[in-house]
This record gives sequence, structure tokens and C-alpha cells, in this order.
Amino acid sequence: MIEKINQLKAEIEGLTASDIQEVEALRIKYLSKKGAVSVLMQDFRTVPAEQKRELGQKLNELKTMATERLNAMREALENADTVDEDIDLTRTAAPMPLGTRHPLSLVKDEIIAIFSRLGFTVAEGPEIEDDWHVFSSLNFAEDHPARDMQDTFFIGRNPDVLLRTHTSSVQSRVMETTKPPIRIICPGRVYRNEAISARAHCFFHQVEALYVNENVSFADLRQTLLYFAREMFGPETKIRLRPSYFPFTEPSAEMDISCNLCGGKGCSFCKHTGWVEILGCGMVDPNVLEACGIDSKKYSGFALGMGVERITNLKYQVKDLRMFSENDVRFLEQFTAAH
Ligand code: DAH
Repeated sequence: MIEKINQLKAEIEGLTASDIQEVEALRIKYLSKKGAVSVLMQDFRTVPAEQKRELGQKLNELKTMATERLNAMREALENADTVDEDIDLTRTAAPMPLGTRHPLSLVKDEIIAIFSRLGFTVAEGPEIEDDWHVFSSLNFAEDHPARDMQDTFFIGRNPDVLLRTHTSSVQSRVMETTKPPIRIICPGRVYRNEAISARAHCFFHQVEALYVNENVSFADLRQTLLYFAREMFGPETKIRLRPSYFPFTEPSAEMDISCNLCGGKGCSFCKHTGWVEILGCGMVDPNVLEACGIDSKKYSGFALGMGVERITNLKYQVKDLRMFSENDVRFLEQFTAAH
């Protein structure tokens, strides 16, 4: 028996285990009811009385030693860092896919950046507006077709609660509360009751710019437009102004830029004219200044407004307007490298 005890002792001292399950298997092998140590304990009963004292002590020592050893092994494994020892902590992390910015946000931010270099600051207004700020203050006649149900979304039955159809409403809000000089750029979403197609949507985005000061002239407007066009579409870009009509500006114009796809030579995009229209502009009508509490004898101003979707189409040739609001990642992911 003493031999068996010594043999087991040596065996247990040499045990190793690489995980908790192995430790548990060893515990069962040696210490469970039918385990090797327990079997010895049972054999102890048949030991002659004169050996009992010595063997009993040895057996107890073995059991304590086995229990302590297995507990220590378990504890060591539990406390072991789960990180693999040969992991390389200096390795660069796995590349994480970056999100992309929406093309309309990219272009809107670029427009804001260009105008802010000229001293314009961002102003915002509500999307749910009243008739005064969207139409009346901007010199729209009582029977102007833009007020019509066909164009404007009204909220409920109250004709004075509507979704703004253009960001020009922010002009009047700012003029009402600010003394000139005013130099603002107003980005935002606008709504019109249009059937959704590749070329029209019931909501889209505009950026409006307004400059009001003493002695603001059409030449200031033209130079601002030229600066914007060249910053946005490249230094070779040419602009041309065509007379137009807007209730809130007099005189009014529409601006074309030389087609940035064919460089003005003529292609299917510019319908072979070499020019593409990008925005509306003009000198703020004195009626508008007066309606907003600004002395039109002392101050003059210019305003311009453009569609962000339109500028984005020109920059990135997005053929279908609906792409902008469908959130198809195959489309959106193409703008990863844009900025
Ligand atoms: N508000 C016009 C529109 O929605 C765009 C516009 C034209 C804004 C001329 C202006 C402007 O400030 O001067 O079509």
C-alpha cells in the first residue's frame, strides 16, 4: 500500500492540464468516489492494525495534496489571461469599414464653405412655415400660382400653416430681426407637391444666400456668383446671366455655367448648348426690404438660391433624383473617397 501511495503522489505531482475541463477530468480520476485516491481509502480498511497509524497519516496527506494541487491548477487556469500568449499586440487593427457622408451633405457643406470664405454665415429657419415668410413678405401677389394647393403642402385646413416651398423664407426671417449688414447662407429642406419621378421630388434641398448692405450692386452679385462657380466647378468655369423673373428680386436672373462635362463644347448633358442652368438670383426687391423693416432707400441687397440636388447632379452625374432618398448603400458607398 505504501508503494501505491507513493506512486500516486508522484503521479499527481506531475499532472498538467491545459484547461478547466481537463482539471475536472483529473479530479474525477483521482478524487471522486470511484477515483484512485478514494479507492485507496477504501482499501485502508483491510490494512493490519499496526500499520494503520502510519498509512492513515500518509493517505490523508495524499488526499490533501491531491485536492490542493487540483485546486491550484484550476485557479491558475481561471486567472490566466484569456489572451493567447503569442498574440502580436503591435499589429495594426483589422480595418474597420468607415461610413460615408451623403452626397447632398457633401455638396451642401462645400457650398457653405465657399460662401463662408466670403464672410457669409449660416442661418436656418423652420420647415413648417406661415404664409407671410414663404410668400407675402417676399412680394408674392395674392393670386400667385406658387401659393396654389398644387405646389404647396398645407398642414391641415389652416391656409397659414404650410411646408416651406423654398429657403427664401429664411431671408425674411433674418431681415425682420437683424440690422444690415446681413450676409447669410441658408441651407435647408423644402417641399413641393410634385409627382415623384427621376427629375422631380416632393422634397429637396436648397441653399439661399442673401447680402444686404449700403450700396450693394449687381456687380457685387455677379462677382460673388463667378467666385462661387469657379470654386465649385473649377477655375475654367464661365458663367452667364439670363434675365428672369422672381417676385422677390428686381432685376432677376438665372445663372448658367459652362457645361462642366464637355467644357462648353456641347454634349447630351447640356443639350448641346454648352451651358447648364444652376441657380436663380437678383437684387432684393425694395418691397421685400420694406416688408421686413429695412429702409430700402438706405440699403440694397442681392439674393440667390440654388438646388443642392441640381449642383450634386452636375458634380457627380446622378441621373435619378430618387437615389438621394432611397438609402441604397450601393449608391451611398460610392462617395467614400469624396472627402
Ligand atoms: N426661391 C427660388 C426658388 O425656389 C430660388 C431663388 C431665386 C432664390 C432667386 C433667390 C433668388 O434668392 O434671388 O425657385
